[in-house]
Amino acid sequence: MHPLDPSQTLDPSQKEFFAENGYLALPNFINEVECDELRAEALRLLQVETMNSQKAVFSTRNQTDTTEQYFLDSGDKIRMFFEEGALDAKGELKQTKELSINKIGHALHKLNPVFEKFSQQAKIRSLANDLPIETPTICQSTYIFKQPRIGGEVVCHQDSTFLHTEPLSTIGLWFALEDATTTNGCLWGIPKKHHQPLKKRFVLDSPQTTSFTVLDSEPWPEENSIPLEASKGTLIVLHGSFPHLSRTNHSEKSRHAYVLHMINGKANYSKDNWLKYSAETFTALKA
Ligand code: FE2
Repeated sequence: MHPLDPSQTLDPSQKEFFAENGYLALPNFINEVECDELRAEALRLLQVETMNSQKAVFSTRNQTDTTEQYFLDSGDKIRMFFEEGALDAKGELKQTKELSINKIGHALHKLNPVFEKFSQQAKIRSLANDLPIETPTICQSTYIFKQPRIGGEVVCHQDSTFLHTEPLSTIGLWFALEDATTTNGCLWGIPKKHHQPLKKRFVLDSPQTTSFTVLDSEPWPEENSIPLEASKGTLIVLHGSFPHLSRTNHSEKSRHAYVLHMINGKANYSKDNWLKYSAETFTALKA
């Protein structure tokens, strides 16, 4: 990066690229030490947090009722979700816990001091000002493991499908804590498609049930998706309407990432979002 003004994080060409394409990669946005600190804290959490006896699995294709409730209640908690391929037919782990977890979410930014300090750092505030995000407010944080051999697929989606505001304002900040390549399941995305309206809304129909409301049934042209490979320390900024996905990690290498989702705190947060609004965990970035 070569910012013209030291108080700014993005230069004009980067802002233009983001506006035009819907994503922006910022190599070395964080350093190796920061990556390793988050990784160590996530692994520590695995050891100390009470594990869910249901062994809830996270799937973007086949979520069951019981695991869905565990997911729906996770917005203001630190909860852990297993990879689909982690459990055997009897529901027991096939390999160690550290190699079986899909993700931890969704209030790390508020409830864990290491993740809170990271999420509230000045350079993220500066970036939010540059994008710009008005009244930048973190609403969700997720640590993703993308485990070797079993790291699950995430189907093509727009983040505003799941975190909806009026007007739309969601931005994802995807921090690569390890090198992410086409081999170990990096992000893929379809440039410029964020200019299109949302294709789906994920809505809470009742406290226990969710469904997708289809707004446009035309499938995404996934053949036009490009890999967003990212070296360790890279931040990929994702517009809330940018369609993106990641494939199963069949490699021997994990692909850890930390993801923050932000909204404009003054936009109307849709009441039927799965993630309930919480004054406690919807955290404004400190000025
Ligand atoms: Fe996403």
